[in-house]
Amino acid sequence: MMDLKLTGKRAFVSGSTKGIGSAIATALAREGARVVINGRTDASVSAALSQILGSVPNATIEGFSGDLATPQAAELLGTKFPSVDILVNNLGIFEPKPFEQISDDDWRRFFEVNVLSGVRLSRMYLSGMKDRGWGRIVFISSESAINTPGRMIHYGMTKTAQLAVSRGLAESCAGTAVTVNAVLPGPTNSPGVGEFVNRISGGKPFAEFEKEFFKTVRPTSLLKRFINTEEVASLVAYVCSPLASATNGAALRVDGGVVQTCF
Ligand SMILES: NC(=O)c1ccc[n+]([C@@H]2O[C@H](COP(=O)([O-])OP(=O)(O)OC[C@H]3O[C@@H](n4cnc5c(N)ncnc54)[C@H](OP(=O)(O)O)[C@@H]3O)[C@@H](O)[C@H]2O)c1
Repeated sequence: MMDLKLTGKRAFVSGSTKGIGSAIATALAREGARVVINGRTDASVSAALSQILGSVPNATIEGFSGDLATPQAAELLGTKFPSVDILVNNLGIFEPKPFEQISDDDWRRFFEVNVLSGVRLSRMYLSGMKDRGWGRIVFISSESAINTPGRMIHYGMTKTAQLAVSRGLAESCAGTAVTVNAVLPGPTNSPGVGEFVNRISGGKPFAEFEKEFFKTVRPTSLLKRFINTEEVASLVAYVCSPLASATNGAALRVDGGVVQTCF
């Protein structure tokens, strides 16, 4: 078995009560990291803690409830957990909307939730990582960073912005053992996407919808099915590991081959 050498590392994963975030928190906990998980409510956080402990009984995990789209919650997080070795900026929202209907407030909200939340947490934790001489920051971006969806331009904008921020932050860490990378999942079967599918599938069985989706909406997928959250988490856990020390400033795809370039 490959040892990712994460035992005892302190990790924080934003938006990790379900979906990709929860799978990342679980993978890090399974590798022995001390993980803080996050969602907006005490109820969702404690349900997620029980669920993770169900699959990793010896996990060292704690919870932090707070809406990390706000500076107040970020400040409170910093008071409770003043330093982490690994920061995964996973929190992100998405919604389809025609361009003409995306209001100024929508643009601001998407920027604040998807970009500024991660910028703020990185600013808070980066200097500690540099002082201690080791750290990992990972931004969970999307294939939409490269293939801007015509019906989610505001979302695509935030995912491209994350690439710019992560590359720039990596530059600022040159010569240190702190790495900053972006991971770009493709269509992944998370609860958020499940709700989205329910809304647009018109009651079709999931398997039928999935087959059609990869024929018509994402025909370039090589995987031809939704990615599992665990498949995304495996890559993220590796990037967070000391083994990934030479991977820095990169945009790493776990998109099932949807994006049609090899670099
Ligand atoms: N699923 C995909 O196909 C896909 C593809 C590419 C990229 N991504 C990216 O992957 C990330 C996760 O997506 P997902 O599909 O796993 O999402 P999801 O199923 O909608 O889960 C979102 C998580 O974020 C939490 N959350 C939402 N707003 C929050 C806030 N303001 N503060 C703190 N926590 C908050 C939710 O917890 P509570 O409800 O407990 O607050 C939940 O744990 C996003 O950045 C997304 O853009 C997803």
